[in-house]
Amino acid sequence: MDDTATVARREYQALDPLSVRIQTHRRYSERDHDIEAAVDRAVGLPASAALLDIGPGTGTYLRRLAERGHRGRLVGLDISAAVLAGLGTVPGVRAVLGDAAALPLRDGCFDVVTARHMLYHVADPLAAIRHARRVLHSGGTFAAVVNVEDNLPVTRELIRGVLAAHGLDARAHAHRVHGGNLPAMVREVFGEVRVHRQDNALVFPSAEPVVAYALSCLTLYGVRPEHYARAAVESDLAVGARALFAQRTPGGRDQTGQPVLRDPKGYVIVTARA
Ligand SMILES: C[S@@+](CC[C@H](N)C(=O)[O-])C[C@H]1O[C@@H](n2cnc3c(N)ncnc32)[C@H](O)[C@@H]1O
Repeated sequence: MDDTATVARREYQALDPLSVRIQTHRRYSERDHDIEAAVDRAVGLPASAALLDIGPGTGTYLRRLAERGHRGRLVGLDISAAVLAGLGTVPGVRAVLGDAAALPLRDGCFDVVTARHMLYHVADPLAAIRHARRVLHSGGTFAAVVNVEDNLPVTRELIRGVLAAHGLDARAHAHRVHGGNLPAMVREVFGEVRVHRQDNALVFPSAEPVVAYALSCLTLYGVRPEHYARAAVESDLAVGARALFAQRTPGGRDQTGQPVLRDPKGYVIVTARA
C-alpha cells in the first residue's frame, strides 16, 4: 500500500472528492450541525486571535472568519496547491505551502492553531502536534478534530467488503487517528486536554448518495481512477449499496414509510493549552 503522505498528496490534488463528502454530510446528516461553529466555541475564539488553520481544505472556516471581520492574523497551511489556490482568493487570509509535521513558521507566533479533520493524513501525527505547540505562544490554544473510532461503519464495511473481494488492501490511512487515540497523543505533547464529542448519523434515502460517498473515498484506499480494478470496484459498490436497501438494513423508515439507511457518525474536538 502507498504511504500515508503519498495518499494524502494524491487525494487533495483536486478538491472534488472532498467536496462530495462535505456535500453528503450537509445534505444527509440526521441532525443539522455546524462543526466550524463548534470549534470556535471549544476554542473560545477571540476576534483578535492570530490563528493558524492546518489543512484548511475548501477554506470555508477561514473564509467565514474573514467575512465576519476577524481582526487577528489568519493563516492557512496545506500541502495541496489546489487548496492554496482556493485560499489565495480569500481577502485577509495568508496561504502557506507546507507540511503539518514540519511547519515552516516561527516559534510562538499564534494564539490559536487548529487541525480539523486532517491529522489522520499525516504520517507522524505526534510530530504535527509538537509543531502546533511550537508555533503557539505560551497560553495559546490548540484544537484538533477527528472522527470517532467507529465512524460510518455501514459505508466503511461496504467499501471494505468490495475491496477485499478484489484482493485489495481494505485499510484506509484516514482511519489511523480517531477519537479513541487522539486525546492521548495531544496529552503527550500538551499535558491536560479537554475532549468534546458530538454524535450524529448519515441517513441515506437511496443507494445513489451511498455510492457517490463511497466512490469519493476510494483514492484514500489506494484505488485511484487509473487503478486496474477501479471500474469493477465502482460497479460492485453500486451493486452492494443497492443490496443494502433491498435487505432494508439497518436504518428503518422515514416519515413516509420509505426504507432508509442509517450510518452512525461522530467527531471529537480535542483542545489543549500551550
Ligand atoms: C479532510 S481535509 C480537511 C479540510 C478541512 N480542515 C475540513 O475540516 O473540512 C484534509 C486537509 O488536510 C490537508 N493535508 C493533508 N496532509 C497534510 C499535511 N501533511 N500537512 C498539511 N496539510 C495536509 C489536505 O490537503 C486537506 O486540505
